[in-house]
Amino acid sequence: MSDISDKANSCDITAKSSCCSADPTPEIKKNFRNHWNNAYSNSPQEKLGWYETDLSPSLDLINKTGLQKSARIINIGSGSTTLIDALLELNYTNLIATDISDIALNELKSRVAGETVEFIQDDLTQAKELNNIEKVDLWIDRAVLHFFIDAKDQDSYFDIVKSKINKNGFVILAEFSLEGAAKCSGLDVFRYSKDMLVDKLGEEFKLIEHFDYTYSMPSGAPRPYIYTLFQRIT
Ligand SMILES: C[S@@+](CC[C@H](N)C(=O)[O-])C[C@H]1O[C@@H](n2cnc3c(N)ncnc32)[C@H](O)[C@@H]1O
Repeated sequence: MSDISDKANSCDITAKSSCCSADPTPEIKKNFRNHWNNAYSNSPQEKLGWYETDLSPSLDLINKTGLQKSARIINIGSGSTTLIDALLELNYTNLIATDISDIALNELKSRVAGETVEFIQDDLTQAKELNNIEKVDLWIDRAVLHFFIDAKDQDSYFDIVKSKINKNGFVILAEFSLEGAAKCSGLDVFRYSKDMLVDKLGEEFKLIEHFDYTYSMPSGAPRPYIYTLFQRIT
């Protein structure tokens, strides 16, 4: 694990490699679950390189959907995000948190104990349980898709998105933009523009809104993101 866990808690802009330049070896890939479990075990949540104190970019887009509080909402690669706490505070009642890291999900679970949140531990690139869930009204992904640098993994991801969103349902994708860092958590990332995400989701989805947003890491370092909101139209 040491080869990918050294910078597990940060989003590293110092790496010289460009995005998507190096595919992980099969051995590293096999260890992704360990990698993320280590990241969550080795740091308090507030020090993680993706920890947010300001959830407004996601909350503004969620609000823009106009969905009912009973809408079925899945937070993809949720980790231990406080977005779930915020949605519960706002009285959303039908939430799913899913991640490859059981450590992260357990942390989140202990924080929101007693609330009605469904937890699913699964790997988005080789989904099992996720393939069996009922369709959702909103798919929220912040800082997850950009870790999939293999075309095959990206295809698996978009196959699930397309098969799991109800007609008129929504997708929020918030990923490192083309100006973003080359690595995060010690892993290469694949950066996106709004147009690349439009292409990936295809004609079944209409882009409703998009904006650039610069997230500040706990260290204060800037990380440029592209935020997008899509609606399924067919
Ligand atoms: C940078 S963190 C972002 C966490 C959360 N979305 C947030 O905004 O705080 C990336 C998350 O993606 C999860 N992840 C990475 N690869 C994954 C995979 N193949 N399947 C499911 N989750 C994955 C990690 O465990 C981690 O929680």
